[in-house]
Amino acid sequence: MNKEKDGQYFPAGQFQECLRTERIARQVLWKEEIDSTNNWAREYAGSRCWTEKGTDPDGTLFVAEKQTVGKGRQGRIWTSPPGENIYMSLLLWKPEIKALSASQLTLVMGLSVAQGMEKLTGRKAGIKWPNDVVYSGKKICGILTEMRIQEGKPEYIVIGVGINVNQTEFSPELQDKATSVFLETGKKADRIAGIARVMECFEKNYRKFLRTEDLSLIREDYESLLLNKDRQVRIIEKKGQWQGTARGINNRGELLVEDSHGNLREILSGEVSVRGLYSYV
Ligand code: BTN
Repeated sequence: MNKEKDGQYFPAGQFQECLRTERIARQVLWKEEIDSTNNWAREYAGSRCWTEKGTDPDGTLFVAEKQTVGKGRQGRIWTSPPGENIYMSLLLWKPEIKALSASQLTLVMGLSVAQGMEKLTGRKAGIKWPNDVVYSGKKICGILTEMRIQEGKPEYIVIGVGINVNQTEFSPELQDKATSVFLETGKKADRIAGIARVMECFEKNYRKFLRTEDLSLIREDYESLLLNKDRQVRIIEKKGQWQGTARGINNRGELLVEDSHGNLREILSGEVSVRGLYSYV
């Protein structure tokens, strides 16, 4: 992100000017380097440092130019080189939802990233269930949601988003699975505008989610981008593997998969991996 005269890299003024939201990302905290923006957001939430200032932490966005220990799902590392990509975590403070519904926010964010990237580049992105955003069958974005539960309700939820924006190369292990907006469009994209477009889409989708506390009002939009829909998938569970045809999602965001007996089975994310039969999607 551009270096400004005062030594700050994140052009906060420019960002706020181009951001069309009411609550989400109205406060942005930025660091050049951090271990993980998710850890930073969680520490901020735990410290309650905003109480003296009387400000509202809900919707605060934590952005870093580089992460030294970016966290991926299932304990994996999210490689986070500086100067190219987006690493950000959104803090939702005391959202009025049940703890059980919170994992659905990962899908809400996945949809928002896909929509935001289309707004940024003009090129349609797809979703691999539950929340990988994909161009040409390869992943451009990963999402990691973490939360703290108190008395059965989320005290806070942190939704961490890593988007490969202008990365020009990937390690041999990742080349078949990962790509970037730049590699797909041939153009360097504006990361500040990218963050703004994703946050705008998230605010709209989140409002709809809060009305019903499920995905019913955004399910059609999500399914229109779901690459697995009507395709053969392999479901990899602890106890074994089976194949079926993905038919869509239910209102809780579980994947609906038709098995070989014609039964529709509901697959809960977090417990299984889903792969295409011949590729990652
Ligand atoms: C995945 O494995 O697909 C999830 C990757 C999530 C990476 C993002 S980058 C910003 C935020 N901070 C982290 O440490 N992880 C998430």
